[in-house]
Amino acid sequence: MKILVIGGGGREHALVWKLKQSSRVEKILCAPGNGGIADDVECLQVDPGDVQALVALAGKIRPDLTVVGPELPLVNGISDAFAERNWSIVGPSRQAAQLEGSKIFSKEFLLRHRIPTAKMYGAYDSARDAYAALSGVLWPLVIKADGLCAGKGVVLPPDPQSARQFLENVMEKNLLGPGGRRVLLEETLEGEELSFIILTDGERYAPMVPTRDHKRVFDGNQGPNTGGMGAYSSDELLTVGLRDAVISTIVEPTLRGLANEGLPYQGFLYIGLMLTKDGPKVLEFNCRLGDPEAQAIVARMDFDLAEVLADVAAKQLDPTKLQWKKGASVCVVLASGGYPGKFEIGKNIDGLTPSVVDTGVNVFHAGTQRERNSLVTSGGRVLGVTAAADSLAAALDLAYRASEQIHFAGMHYRKDIGEHVGRVQAAGD
Ligand code: AMP
Ligand code: GLY
Repeated sequence: MKILVIGGGGREHALVWKLKQSSRVEKILCAPGNGGIADDVECLQVDPGDVQALVALAGKIRPDLTVVGPELPLVNGISDAFAERNWSIVGPSRQAAQLEGSKIFSKEFLLRHRIPTAKMYGAYDSARDAYAALSGVLWPLVIKADGLCAGKGVVLPPDPQSARQFLENVMEKNLLGPGGRRVLLEETLEGEELSFIILTDGERYAPMVPTRDHKRVFDGNQGPNTGGMGAYSSDELLTVGLRDAVISTIVEPTLRGLANEGLPYQGFLYIGLMLTKDGPKVLEFNCRLGDPEAQAIVARMDFDLAEVLADVAAKQLDPTKLQWKKGASVCVVLASGGYPGKFEIGKNIDGLTPSVVDTGVNVFHAGTQRERNSLVTSGGRVLGVTAAADSLAAALDLAYRASEQIHFAGMHYRKDIGEHVGRVQAAGD
């Protein structure tokens, strides 16, 4: 197989690493990739949000299978464009990707199918109506911009004044772009968050091992929200009873609902859960693997990912093929100084010696770039140091020891990945 992977973050580096191990794979290409992915496979400079350019690229290289990492190409319709041409791709259609592309679509879908989620107070497309609604709802509440807002579209405002300020920023000043034109107000849920990601061909599905992301920038869940500062996976994250409840009250009704509405879903479906005292409830859907959850998941895969993804594209997923390493895995994100605010790029990265990467630790690259003979930073999240082991403590030990050997100016990372740190709070609260 010749496989094209779309995207250029840590998640895509992890996918490329795993796909490369398959004896069925002859060649992998990545668009656009990054400095680390380019060491492993050929990278092609294409904007991953530009469906036409991706179609043109695939027309030239003719991959047997295309695997899409990020949401933007999916929300922009890459799967539909490939399906029209009978090209094999893993990822949902534009319409099904609305589960991530529109929070209002997703909430209405959940309510229609009676899938447990936070109560919706209302959806608004005029700032005046949204301001008026603030006085009639229960506090605390959550405000969500409807569209894609690069992780900045959700707030838990501490008081009505901050709620008004957010609404003004997104609905009147358009600070988050078109994604903020409509907003959703909903109930605040309390509990622990969990990322439950499944792979489906529209009919059959297979859950990934459960993961937990650490979204806040500092230890103890302090500071602003980020794309994710680290993740871990352990079977202990989910009891058998809870897993059964997630499957029967959330996963199966969701897949049935999609099929009944003529939106058969193919690819990874990320279900962001809040484990509340009344049972698991859906916080959000994403139409892809999480980042950095993917790194922790891939580290525990004990199956041929290329074979399984080709099965999904052919609508022949065999869930029994997905076998997992026992134990745990962890991904520690090494970030640029200042991230998630302003940060500088172009810092030399040292310490990626073979002794770091040959000890069962994978250093997946996110924001890196090759400059002549050196590797430099090119983004906020730079590297994802990933390890799997028999226990969470052993995986953490491996990942943190490797992290200590890596340096770039301004580098910072959380020291408490995998620790139980109480209620995970949301952006803006
Ligand atoms: P979302 O993009 O919808 O996942 O929201 C981002 C983050 O906001 C989630 O990971 C949660 O931490 C938080 N969040 C979203 N909705 C709620 C809710 N209804 N109650 C509490 N926290 C929420
Ligand atoms: N780590 C959260 C996400 O990928 O959306």
